[in-house]
Amino acid sequence: MAKANENYLKLKAGYLFPEISRRINEFVEANPGKEVIRLGIGDVTRPLPPAVVKAFHDGVDDLAGTENFHGYGPEQGYAWLIDTIIQKAYNPLGVELDRSEMFISDGSKCDSANILDIFDLDNTVAIGDPVYPVYNDTNVMVGRTGEANDKGYYDGIVYMPCTEANNFMPEFPTGNVDIIYLCYPNNPTGTVATKEQLKAWVDYALEKEAVILFDAAYEAFITEKDIPHSIYEIEGAKRCAIEFRSFSKTAGFTGVRCGLTVVPQELKVKGKSSAEIMSSWEFFDKLLQECFVVGTPGSGFGPSGEGYFRLSAFGERSTVEKAVSRIRDTWGK
Ligand SMILES: Cc1ncc(COP(=O)(O)O)c(C=O)c1O
Repeated sequence: MAKANENYLKLKAGYLFPEISRRINEFVEANPGKEVIRLGIGDVTRPLPPAVVKAFHDGVDDLAGTENFHGYGPEQGYAWLIDTIIQKAYNPLGVELDRSEMFISDGSKCDSANILDIFDLDNTVAIGDPVYPVYNDTNVMVGRTGEANDKGYYDGIVYMPCTEANNFMPEFPTGNVDIIYLCYPNNPTGTVATKEQLKAWVDYALEKEAVILFDAAYEAFITEKDIPHSIYEIEGAKRCAIEFRSFSKTAGFTGVRCGLTVVPQELKVKGKSSAEIMSSWEFFDKLLQECFVVGTPGSGFGPSGEGYFRLSAFGERSTVEKAVSRIRDTWGK
């Protein structure tokens, strides 16, 4: 029988925003004539900018004809989009990034949750208190914590208080931590981090061999010249930090969804090399190098796929015939 992920049962009041909606609906039903002003969820209210609307229309037109039709995009995102973001959003900050270091996604909420898949459950996570609830709840959902206590603190998470006394900038955790969430400008406190403050976090993470998950969803709202927009403006950050960005609040994308994650090549964490799944990948390379044909290594579908290779059956008939004759001509009958 299929088993549920019981970690979800540890969640206290449900995710914050659905809970707010539930209470609003209850109130509105009970108080029909009252005008409720909604300033709870940070959703946008303005229409998409004209350039975005035009690009969407053009994109749909492309899919409507055979000439420009395309199916799945590249897994990491379109190269033209990645290059444009690097040139317009990172290079002016003095930050150089390689195309391979950026992943385009359906929003930074999803990314800040999905990134947990690549980290062992044994890692100790530190988050601010108060904090954007996604960091807390997704760690609970993957099973990195015990139960919550009366105050709502989960066993296994290190909470870093952000209070008036410390100017809403947390102190370094006292115990050992492996993953530290930082969000600047901060949701919910609105605090920004100076270069010196971020440098101290980067130095701390490098010394402890920890990874900083840096949420820069609100970087576009920074108005002061000397406040960093990206953690990579700080020396050493590429060795310890992953950065998330979002187009939600700046381009009205809360509905249409687009965000990005930067994982620098220089960032290293402990783990086995993946070189042990090599044979179907070796075949992938051989087929590409010698026949200029691309398939998918069986091991990419799971360990039992090793030793197999998948070729898509959905290519144009003429293209498939060309690939088969190329393989036959190169490797003999
Ligand atoms: C700190 C923070 N990160 C990420 C997000 C979500 O961004 P997205 O809409 O790209 O998922 C929000 C949205 O409210 C946020 O406040």
